[in-house]
Amino acid sequence: MALTIPNKLPQVGTTIFTVMSQLANECGAINLSQGFPDFDVPKPLRQLLHEHCEQGHNQYSPMTGIAPLREQICQLIERAYSVSVNVDREVTVTTGATEALYAAFSAMVSSGDEVIVLDPAYDSYAPAIELAGGQPVHIPLIDGTFAVDWDRVRSVITPRTRMIVVNSPHNPTGAVFRPADLEALWALVKGTNILVLSDEVYEFMTYDGQAHQSVLRHEGLRQQALVISSFGKTYHATGWKVGYMVAPEALTREFRKVHQFLNFCTMTPAQFAYADFLRSEPNHPIELPDFYQAKRDTFATMLGQTRFKFTPAPGTYFQCADYSDISDLPDTEFARWLTTEHGVAVIPVSVFYRDPPKHQKVVRFCFAKDDQTIAEAGARLCQL
Ligand SMILES: Cc1ncc(COP(=O)(O)O)c(C=O)c1O
Repeated sequence: MALTIPNKLPQVGTTIFTVMSQLANECGAINLSQGFPDFDVPKPLRQLLHEHCEQGHNQYSPMTGIAPLREQICQLIERAYSVSVNVDREVTVTTGATEALYAAFSAMVSSGDEVIVLDPAYDSYAPAIELAGGQPVHIPLIDGTFAVDWDRVRSVITPRTRMIVVNSPHNPTGAVFRPADLEALWALVKGTNILVLSDEVYEFMTYDGQAHQSVLRHEGLRQQALVISSFGKTYHATGWKVGYMVAPEALTREFRKVHQFLNFCTMTPAQFAYADFLRSEPNHPIELPDFYQAKRDTFATMLGQTRFKFTPAPGTYFQCADYSDISDLPDTEFARWLTTEHGVAVIPVSVFYRDPPKHQKVVRFCFAKDDQTIAEAGARLCQL
């Protein structure tokens, strides 16, 4: 009898990030596609990792994460948002935000539950919801501004709605929440059983003086939210895969039940290194907006000399741009063409939608790059 191979995620292939990065490598293109910096982790942090390996911090850590790191996370949250979080009962260190997302969906979503996802959306949400037996309900962000249409979100809430996923600063568009967004979200979930999953991995990348509107700032929302962040983004260390999840005790308890069987713990010496670095360089996250705003501005000045149309991104290290003055190609073909023919790899934004808007011609650039990389990419893009 032929073996029947399960196909639990029939829509899913290799992620666009892998596809575009591979293509960029094959063509020797400048890779502005996948979201990672081309500069290194701060040297003292790398040295701390080395030291902790040498000191023998190489075995399993506590399932929740080492206490010194959880303490530093609480202090960071206190400094950034003036909010106090319980170090033992409300913070869990995870293997990147990806693991936290997966554990959160697995723990909170049951068969038949609906989870509202705002498209374009980070690509791991929908598959993780489906594997938990849930049904993603996709609502598009408003064309052009990529703001949330809260009335539209309200219109799809049913008795089966279990969770709303929000992501500010937003990948792929760079859009950020205003205080009114938190209030609108609160108005939807207040007094209901609906949970909020707030993906805040770009929390320290907001520009032009705008404060990040963390769900943790909102006393009401916070009580029914799981907030996820990633040191990979904040410390230029995407390959280290260390993140964390913050939620009230009852939610954290359920979350940890999954986390303990998914990963049990996160790489121990990296946790020690982060704990030391957060203590010795407490301002690194607070200074990150200035660091990335300079890059955003350099990138925007460069892109302003091309035929792309865009508004400088208010957050993240992504810049979306409309290429309709350059080409009529659909965005996946345009991205491929730009990579193979002009040596700049980008991400087509349509891949972040379940139903991509028909006429949208937008690609995403990652500007977490050295000035020289940005200048070289600019020279190529100016020729289009
Ligand atoms: C919105 C968003 N959430 C989660 C992640 C995953 O973060 P990590 O690398 O820490 O798993 C990413 C990474 O690009 C992201 O952009």
